[in-house]
Amino acid sequence: MALIDQETVRKILDTADIVDVVSDFVKLKRSGANYIGLCPFHNERTPSFSVSKSRGICKCFSCGKGGTPVGFIMEHEQLSYIEALKWLANKYNIEIKERELTAEERAAATERESMLALNDFALQFFEHTLHETDEGRDIGMSYFRNRGLSDAAIRRFRLGFAPEKSTALSSEARAKGYGEETLLGTGLCARSERNGGSLYDRFRGRVIFPVFSVSGKVVAFGGRTLKTSKEVAKYVNSPESPVYHKSNELYGLYQAKREIVKKNKCILVEGYMDVISMSQRGVENVVASSGTSLTDGQIALIHRFTPNVTVIYDSDPAGIKASLRGIDMLLAHGMNIKVMLLPDGDDPDSFAKSHSLEEIEQYFKENETDFIRFKTRILLDTLESNDPIGRAGVINSIARSISVIPDRVVRSEYVKECARLLQTDEDIVRLQVAKYAAEAADREQHRPISEQSERSENSENSERSERALAGSGSASAYLRAAETEVVRLCARYGLLTVAQVVNAEGDMTDLNVIDYVSAELAADELRLTNEDLDRVFIAVQNAAEAWRSEQPAAEARAEEARRRFMADAAETIASAGSVDAIRRKEREMEEAADSEAKNHLAEAAEKFLTTMLGADPDPAVRNLSTTFASEKYVLSKIHTKGVHIPSERELLSDRAPRAVCGLKIAILQWREKQLRANLAANPAEAAQTLEELQQIRTVIAQLARYLGERIVLPR
Ligand code: CTP
Ligand code: MN
Repeated sequence: MALIDQETVRKILDTADIVDVVSDFVKLKRSGANYIGLCPFHNERTPSFSVSKSRGICKCFSCGKGGTPVGFIMEHEQLSYIEALKWLANKYNIEIKERELTAEERAAATERESMLALNDFALQFFEHTLHETDEGRDIGMSYFRNRGLSDAAIRRFRLGFAPEKSTALSSEARAKGYGEETLLGTGLCARSERNGGSLYDRFRGRVIFPVFSVSGKVVAFGGRTLKTSKEVAKYVNSPESPVYHKSNELYGLYQAKREIVKKNKCILVEGYMDVISMSQRGVENVVASSGTSLTDGQIALIHRFTPNVTVIYDSDPAGIKASLRGIDMLLAHGMNIKVMLLPDGDDPDSFAKSHSLEEIEQYFKENETDFIRFKTRILLDTLESNDPIGRAGVINSIARSISVIPDRVVRSEYVKECARLLQTDEDIVRLQVAKYAAEAADREQHRPISEQSERSENSENSERSERALAGSGSASAYLRAAETEVVRLCARYGLLTVAQVVNAEGDMTDLNVIDYVSAELAADELRLTNEDLDRVFIAVQNAAEAWRSEQPAAEARAEEARRRFMADAAETIASAGSVDAIRRKEREMEEAADSEAKNHLAEAAEKFLTTMLGADPDPAVRNLSTTFASEKYVLSKIHTKGVHIPSERELLSDRAPRAVCGLKIAILQWREKQLRANLAANPAEAAQTLEELQQIRTVIAQLARYLGERIVLPR
């Protein structure tokens, strides 16, 4: 992956205009200072998607999604951070300067890049052959027509045809300058044992299904034979290569991802044709595992877009039983799995062709079954009616499935349900589940630490952290609200001045919110306990560092605003009449110009921070900071005409110390709670514990008094 140099990144971030970017996908209407439209991330009839041009962010007040231009494109186009930057660069015709790569990076990148380029060439070659040559039209196209594919579907999935001639592709590719190594590396060609080791094409006389990565690069091909002979392999597929790791790709995901997000559900089928036929019929959130069982990588890929998966089976009992185990993996990832059987003899391909979209949707509604229920039924169906040993086996197998579900509440629901279905005692199932869970935990403990932490990072999502909050009495849960308030102020107003302090040289300097909070935390050796908030805080500190180089230019622009203001005011001042009146007016105008310039600078700083955080590669940082930036600050519900209601920005020198003080109190209260518990648990240490409790209470009282008074810091 090529890296974009920092300067270009800044340029892209500065140029991208949120209204402009969102307008590419959403019809926006002006509404006061903002714009509104229908949210592109969920289905709605009344607009709740709001775009703020001045803050450079968008946000859906119903589903919560949104972000800065980069964040929006990442979410909407389902791209990585770098890909989103490239998308924006392309939109604004910004040339991407790539950072100098190291020698190894360059070699690896060049190898991958030439393979991707060759694949892209092959894609066009196969497509051209299908549409523009007699061989392609007569053989390939008539095959697709026979199978009922529309032109639109053929184009959407970029289907193609590989000529019969064994060097058709390789000779053209070579003429274009692609080297042998690349031809062999991608697996498009192989070396013949005979014929003096010459190259020949892997795909010959087959219709071609290109496989796209999530971001739309062609990474592999599948070729289906048109012959019915059992002698010939039905499919030939690209081998593993530096650009194709089969276990990390899903066929059709590139075309399906937007619809998956929108429907918040992914339908999983087996084959290329299943995906294409369903999509052609209007069911577009479909992907295929390409005939093999799902891997962890593929599940993680789906999980990026939705936690809800429906697996479609042909109604072949042997096949179903074989694939049950793979689905336990989906459960272990915390996904919600449903299962659906098609009518006898149908596969998704034939089913889609013989039914209308309405019929299909109706069928889904009536036949989707929860996976565990489904598995219980399937296993019970295969049992002889009075087979106690087989029955115990079924209970074990179901208990194993339940034991991998990460959510305790969900697990418990399933235990009840299965006990009922299996006509057995709840406790028996629960015991088995607990046993399997313990075994799994044991295995987990013996995995290397590095792997464990990786796992917890990958599976991190809001659901999980909410669960952590609800379930355990951890410090981070207890402190979350107080830490959020501190980090929120830093993320939103971090660069603004909160006080003036005397520095080491004896000069007065501005202290901004970030420095103030950092200093306060450092003085008491405190750290944020919520990992996601801590990451935002670190990102804020980095942004403050970057602001140093931006600040002079921003100050110059603010100064310019002041001058403009005074120039505009010249006439008003001159027309004031008496000399005294003119002087008064002039002072008045100068004050106004001052606050104009100050506001200008504050707004620039706020926007800089929002932009930087909103473009952070870490999704947790992006999401939290967007939420902070889009929250409306409400001081009081009473709106009195003519009364100046101070903005939160104006109240900062009060808010920031309050937030820090609130956090310190919360930390002490947490400690107090621990001590109380210790008092009961360790009576032997009672004296010491009581003494510490007393100290803590004194400090809390002091801090609380401090909070109660109006805090005024010098400005
Ligand atoms: N597959 C494969 N190699 C094979 C057979 C199957 O790679 N020899 C993979 C393909 O990705 C295929 C999927 O398994 O799409 C499902 O197989 P199958 O149902 O046999 O193929 P379909 O795609 O349904 O093809 P068709 O409807 O044309 O028979
Ligand atoms: Mn089929």
